[in-house]
Amino acid sequence: MRVLIFDTAEKAVVHTARLIVEQVQARGDSVLGLATGATMVPIYAALRAAYRAGQISFAQVTTFNLDEYLGLSPADPRSYRATMQAELFDHVDIDPARTHLPIGDTPDPKAEAARYEAAIAAAGGIDLQLLGIGRNGHIGFNEPISSLTSRTRVKALTPDTRAANAHYFPDDDMPRFALTMGVGTIMEARHCLMLATGPAKADAVAATIEGPLSAACPASVLQMHRRATVVLDRSAAGRLKLWGHYAQVEEDR
Ligand code: GLP
Repeated sequence: MRVLIFDTAEKAVVHTARLIVEQVQARGDSVLGLATGATMVPIYAALRAAYRAGQISFAQVTTFNLDEYLGLSPADPRSYRATMQAELFDHVDIDPARTHLPIGDTPDPKAEAARYEAAIAAAGGIDLQLLGIGRNGHIGFNEPISSLTSRTRVKALTPDTRAANAHYFPDDDMPRFALTMGVGTIMEARHCLMLATGPAKADAVAATIEGPLSAACPASVLQMHRRATVVLDRSAAGRLKLWGHYAQVEEDR
């Protein structure tokens, strides 16, 4: 695991976005795994800027998002599909047919999960999987005690996760379930790139990097990944103990 600690969240974001840009520059037909959440908002702003500046094209890029709320249609503005359209897809030259998220309002979630797995395989697997982390250590919507070999499936959201995301659902109708890539699905990505910023993530980050490998903290499975990069700001790194082991990056390179 490569752990990079930046003194500010802005620098952590710049570095993470740069790694994604470099991936697309190196391979124009990259398959990117994408994530949602507040942490990722500035990442998509940076990718839009890189596109506008002519640094990258998404014309041949394929994307698979980690997850979607069960029951929300793609057109629902609170869906992750709508979020991705607004944050990235509507602003760049990506082929809409190459952008994939689980369909939240599917009548058959099990079939939809199998379809999603098959689509990832048909695309040749994911080159770079962007990951955030939940305050409880979840990745995608793989809540604590998710099987570390799980595949795309329906997961119930924990009270903690529902509380953390409740502000997106002011009418108090937050979905109780999500369709999410499994931990095993995520682990098959050729490079996992996690970004965590802010003090609310410090406990989950410490459990991920220094804790035991445990389904109690699904992100800790990254300890087993052959190529995992974790980019942190100082506050998200605040509960780490083995400081001498990590790269502390004052500049953004
Ligand atoms: C949601 C998403 C995760 C994300 C997490 C953290 O639960 N399903 O993929 O990592 O939120 O989100 P935030 O960045 O808003 O803290």
